[in-house]
Amino acid sequence: MRTDARAHHDPAVRGFASDNYAGAHPEILAALTLANGGHQIAYGEDDYTDHLQRVIHSHFGAGAQAYPVFNGTGANVTALQALTDRWGAVVCAESAHINVDEGGAPERMAGLKLLTVATPDGKLTPELIDRQAWGWEDEHRAMPQVVSITQNTELGTVYTPDEIRAICDHAHERGMKVHLDGARISNAAASLDVPMRTFTSVAGVDVLSFGGTKNGMLFGEAIVVLNPDAVRRMNHIRKMSMQLASKMRFVSVQLEALLAKDLWLRNARHSNAMAQRLAEGVRQVDGVEILHEVQANAVFARLPHDVSERLQKRYRFYFWDENAGDVRWMCSFDTTEDDVDGFLVALKEEMAR
Ligand SMILES: Cc1ncc(COP(=O)(O)O)c(C=O)c1O
Repeated sequence: MRTDARAHHDPAVRGFASDNYAGAHPEILAALTLANGGHQIAYGEDDYTDHLQRVIHSHFGAGAQAYPVFNGTGANVTALQALTDRWGAVVCAESAHINVDEGGAPERMAGLKLLTVATPDGKLTPELIDRQAWGWEDEHRAMPQVVSITQNTELGTVYTPDEIRAICDHAHERGMKVHLDGARISNAAASLDVPMRTFTSVAGVDVLSFGGTKNGMLFGEAIVVLNPDAVRRMNHIRKMSMQLASKMRFVSVQLEALLAKDLWLRNARHSNAMAQRLAEGVRQVDGVEILHEVQANAVFARLPHDVSERLQKRYRFYFWDENAGDVRWMCSFDTTEDDVDGFLVALKEEMAR
């Protein structure tokens, strides 16, 4: 088919900056073509969104309900609003995406107070939650109503199903609900080698933000409500939060392509394996320290600042904490073994200069 567009980049060039830098998986693009043509009812009444619900049930149980949205920030901010009252607050790790990487959207768009807790590895525990979960009757304090955790975490670590269950039990005993930011939930499931329901619906999570974009989708995520009693007016809040896609079939068909068979798992296993390969190589390089356990598709490392700057001229990646010299190297579904090996050669060369 003819197009007047031209390629403006070299598709053979890949770096380690973000799983968002990757393109879309060919099976996702094929699914989009499948859903194209003809007319379908807009705003989620289409056949693809209807079918998606059955696919979601197979992963999370018959009570689960998916609400497709455009992006992860939108999923988080919409879900948290549906879980809280106007006076509510959300307990989360200091490193949580909702706290550091959403431009203040939970505060500005949802009017939410975030009650943050410092963690060594991005993971909350019942004890850490208790540093902020108190004062429900104190009108001077925003009321802690939700605990939000990220699986896998922003630091590449993974909660075990038991750890999540303990958090859910603890939160529920105190009348709080649990939200799980699953921007990389597939990587967590691949790492744990368990079905996603094991550490979500079965463990007691009330609502999750299901991530697709970082795992091969063009765009799109879904809020998945696991406990319908925990939320109010999700449809209205999604619209008010500017996350209601008119041509929703194109988000839903991507989620179906990812989840109906094993594309979600294949992609996640691959990006996790590339991170393991990278970490193994990095451990052989004197002077480079790996900072957190590598459990998903990210490697966090500390190395001399000038080495990182030279390396960044050859491969794209981000400083995580520039003062400390900490960097993040992220693998994606399309990272190849050659990419990793080439990067390791470059790292060794720059360390030796
Ligand atoms: C943990 C986490 N949550 C949510 C998101 C979603 O963000 P976005 O709004 O860019 O899709 C990201 C993306 O980096 C993330 O890392």
